[in-house]
Amino acid sequence: MSEVIRFPEGFLWGAATSAHQVEGSPLADGAGPSIWHRFAHTPGLTANGDTGDVACDHYRRFPEDVALLADLGLNAYRFSIAWSRVLPEGRGAVNPRGLAFYDRLVDALLARGIQPAVTLYHWDLPAALDDRGGWLNPDIADWFADYARVVVRALDDRVHLWATLNEPWVVADGGYLHGALAPGHRNLFETPLVTHNLLRAHGAGVQAYRAEGRHQVGIVLNLEPKHPASEDPRDLAATRRADAYMNRQYIEPVLRGTYPQELAEIFGPAWPAFPESDLARIRQPIDWLGINYYTRGVTRHDDRALPPQASSVRQPHALYTETGWEVYPAGLAETLEWVWKQSGDLPLYVTENGAVFPDPAVAVNGRVDDPLRVEYYRGHLKSALDALGLGVPLRGYFAWSLLDNFEWSHGYSKRFGLVHVDFATQRRTPKASARFYADVVRTRGAALFEPHPLVLPAMMP
Ligand code: BGC
Repeated sequence: MSEVIRFPEGFLWGAATSAHQVEGSPLADGAGPSIWHRFAHTPGLTANGDTGDVACDHYRRFPEDVALLADLGLNAYRFSIAWSRVLPEGRGAVNPRGLAFYDRLVDALLARGIQPAVTLYHWDLPAALDDRGGWLNPDIADWFADYARVVVRALDDRVHLWATLNEPWVVADGGYLHGALAPGHRNLFETPLVTHNLLRAHGAGVQAYRAEGRHQVGIVLNLEPKHPASEDPRDLAATRRADAYMNRQYIEPVLRGTYPQELAEIFGPAWPAFPESDLARIRQPIDWLGINYYTRGVTRHDDRALPPQASSVRQPHALYTETGWEVYPAGLAETLEWVWKQSGDLPLYVTENGAVFPDPAVAVNGRVDDPLRVEYYRGHLKSALDALGLGVPLRGYFAWSLLDNFEWSHGYSKRFGLVHVDFATQRRTPKASARFYADVVRTRGAALFEPHPLVLPAMMP
């Protein structure tokens, strides 16, 4: 498809994590609890009752993890800040010991030539703010801006790539509509209010950044192409709704200050009239956009799925990951091209891409062979090259995730890492996919076109 066979010089090659999924020590050094701490400690809400209390112990073992990034030859690390470490009550008094952790992490990264990319909010709202209504309280835009100001003031001299929010769609859909994620609400009427307040917080966060920061700020959206399951007009309409609900509900207000008209149909009486002045505040100029890409959705009309009265159809000949997501590499280029058509010259980053396949709990002879994950990365990185060949201004790629970690309500039962974590001992073992990714980075993509030596023997009968 493309003429481009190498990633450009200066491309950011990274791996990503988020605070609550890797850090552990959630209440250490004066930190307050987050909604995820509370959620996971409520019986029955996570697989095996798993919590983030220890996770990958990154809070204490970060020097080892920074060394892992360096050994893989990566030049960027995307991580998030736990709001309730910095502001234990969510607002008011700053906890210097919480902030100091991120200070040490940033310095350790820079000492190894690794650029930090910071996400301010990756789902772990301070529990004290949830007690005040959390994302349902309109004041949260100002709470978020105040928090952003504190962190940016402390770190912007060394952190040059900032994101306000990670995946607002998942916060609203998982946290307030379906309830599988914290804070576990199931309420159609709350969902659009939460989305709107998330987007208002994004806008206020960008404004706060402009006041305090001197570098680049953007937002991370999870996007996926929605393809119709058939040419039946009901499936075509469902596909438009699914696309409006998951993709355009976020990208359009951020870039253009409008909501897709389908949302009124999707939410019916639960869709309020939002003031125009809010939308103007949401549409702040941003410096970059992050795209988390995992899969596509082949969509059909489904009256029982509310909203958007659409569900995904399993494809008979496709490979699926352990979370039931179709492996569909071409969708990455498709998504990047679709975003580019709307965002023009805005620099784009793939801020997450990766897969969960069954891996052993313990590394065998110091090895973890994960051929399906290798092929997942191969396909998607080739797709990223295709996008570059089309002219998409793609500036970097972050694998999800550096480490096997606390996969939210799945607990530790789902492994996304390039690096295997033995949760009994905290031993880290780079998987074959980590070695493969390191080869791709070292060769700026050439290794994508060669059989991988660590993979072939394991795949042979
Ligand atoms: C999230 C991560 C999560 C990953 C895999 C993304 O939606 O940003 O926190 O672990 O998907 O489920």
